[in-house]
Amino acid sequence: MKVFVTRRLPGDALERLSAAHEVELWEDQLPPPPAELRRRAPGLEGLLSMLTDPVDADLIAAAPALQAISNYAVGVDNVDVEAATARGIPVGNTPGVLTDSTADLALALMLGIARRVAEGDGYVRAGEWRTWDPRLLLGDDLHGATVGIVGFGRIGRAVGRRCRGFDCEVLQTSRSGGVGLDELLRRSDFVTLHAPLTPETRALIDGDALARMKPTAYLVNTARGPLVDTDALTRALHDGEIAGAALDVTDPEPLPGDHPLLRAPNLLVVPHLGSATHATRERMAAMAVDNLLAGLAGERMPNCANPEAYDRRAGATRRAP
Ligand code: DGY
Repeated sequence: MKVFVTRRLPGDALERLSAAHEVELWEDQLPPPPAELRRRAPGLEGLLSMLTDPVDADLIAAAPALQAISNYAVGVDNVDVEAATARGIPVGNTPGVLTDSTADLALALMLGIARRVAEGDGYVRAGEWRTWDPRLLLGDDLHGATVGIVGFGRIGRAVGRRCRGFDCEVLQTSRSGGVGLDELLRRSDFVTLHAPLTPETRALIDGDALARMKPTAYLVNTARGPLVDTDALTRALHDGEIAGAALDVTDPEPLPGDHPLLRAPNLLVVPHLGSATHATRERMAAMAVDNLLAGLAGERMPNCANPEAYDRRAGATRRAP
């Protein structure tokens, strides 16, 4: 079957896909422009997409032969899952394998911003370091702090386990329980985001939410950029409304080099690296290929974000004359 893969993946998983299907691979470092995806849509039977590829209702409608979408991410907010489900197209994702790597990075960001790691590195490299000084680059402790986890799924819980190892008090808020968001924001020294991007969570951390945080608290985001209102965060950092922010994800993503957020004080920002370890990215590749192979074979994907697509398919087959 005809499959488009929108970026080269680490490891050798794509070889398994090429052995079974006619694979076209987008070799550029930058994602295929939406017009290029659209141009290829009519001939596509399988799509292995990245979180940077908008797989929207129009693209799905332009691909009448599309049988399976496999997204190389746990998040599927770049895919119009509803439109795929309506067509009986399963959408694969990669849960589980990236939980611990992403949780590790959340801790790295907490420590990085509170202990001023990047700032210290820049200071030494700039040749500014003259002597050890009792007041040089003082920061805040993670150990013993209160950490508020917004979204208590796999990754949120993995962050909680790590924070308990640092003797932190852990608060959490999620759809299924925990404290209210308001209480979490008021009590936490670190607020760390681990919710998926949905219409309900978009701009969850807006100006009001930032104003409710302690002025000594840090915001950490390894989930999705649009969970945070970027303009409000930029203002809060400039006005010293919170102590700092450490971001793995931003809105927009990537941030243009001249974006005002990048001029805000007490900001640590890295380029969406949550799952970026050799082992994790290779596991994600294997999982994404397994999902696509299953989807194209008409079998259940091992990890599917819309299992109801199969019911839709079965219904259509039953209705067929
Ligand atoms: C995901 O999988 O959704 C991450 O953001 C990238 O690994």
